[in-house]
Amino acid sequence: MAAVAVGEFSKPRQSAAQANRVVNLYSARHYDTDTAIYDSFTKKTGIKVNLIEADADKLIERIKSEGANSPADVLITVDAGRLWRAQDAGILQPISSKVLMSAIPANLREPSGYWFGLSKRARVIVYNKDRVKPSKLSTYEDLADSQWKRRLISRTSNHVYNQSLTGAVLAANGASTTESWARGLVDNFAHPPKGNDTAQIKEVAAGVADVTFVNTYYVARLIKSKKPEEQEVARKIGVFFPNQRDRGAHINISGAAVAKSAPNRGAAIRFIEHLVSREAQEIFAKSNNEYPVLAGVPLDSAVAGFGKFREDSLNAATYGRNNTVALQIMDRAGWI
Ligand SMILES: [Fe+2]
Repeated sequence: MAAVAVGEFSKPRQSAAQANRVVNLYSARHYDTDTAIYDSFTKKTGIKVNLIEADADKLIERIKSEGANSPADVLITVDAGRLWRAQDAGILQPISSKVLMSAIPANLREPSGYWFGLSKRARVIVYNKDRVKPSKLSTYEDLADSQWKRRLISRTSNHVYNQSLTGAVLAANGASTTESWARGLVDNFAHPPKGNDTAQIKEVAAGVADVTFVNTYYVARLIKSKKPEEQEVARKIGVFFPNQRDRGAHINISGAAVAKSAPNRGAAIRFIEHLVSREAQEIFAKSNNEYPVLAGVPLDSAVAGFGKFREDSLNAATYGRNNTVALQIMDRAGWI
């Protein structure tokens, strides 16, 4: 912990010798266990990690307003939609790294090197086991069918996870089919969208609705919870990987990028390379129940329990770039 400083800092006036002895990290991941990864980087390299944690959109705004004076070296966010926003805002620089290219599958990194996936999550259908036979489930598209009327719930369209899912549906099906799909979902909502992914799972377990879509690590968190009421929630629901007969389940990432004005560019690249090392990937997998991007790293047992599945191999940059149009479609469809 000692190596990680949290809080305010300004762009250091530093000599060439001082450069790359620190890395200034702006992170939107709020997982305490990530500090173990930063500490191991400091131990290995002697490079200190200065950490600022905030909401992704705030961090992007902050780097933008700091401009050329920004001390930011590395930006970490969850969801490719946000990484795309940062790229689009002109606050990132492309990098090339053989280590990153070989560790991270091509669809999980931005093709020009603007950002790199560190961990994966699938957006799956969660269903109430007493009320839904898994044989009735098939695809994201099918949840727009009238058989799910008043049986589906969702978080709002404000949230980037559903924007990315819609961006992936858009890439697969085109704009007009995606808008009909979004309208169909809205018609099927048991109540207007509200709450986070965990709230959706709890409502499905309670029978408020029968189906929803959430990221896998939220389910794993409930399975591993010490609270009996959360364990009960986990027992009542099932995880279904959609679109297994066609493109596969939607995969999103948390990812990292080098900031455009990074004062410690070399240290920033080494830091991101560390995040895809086997050691760091094991921590991502175990502590936050994510799927590692590096092949051969074991899954957490709760995550492994979901079973093997087909992943949509769509490049994260494609649904990232689709974010704006996806949100317009959701708005027009009345997905609040
Ligand atoms: Fe999340």
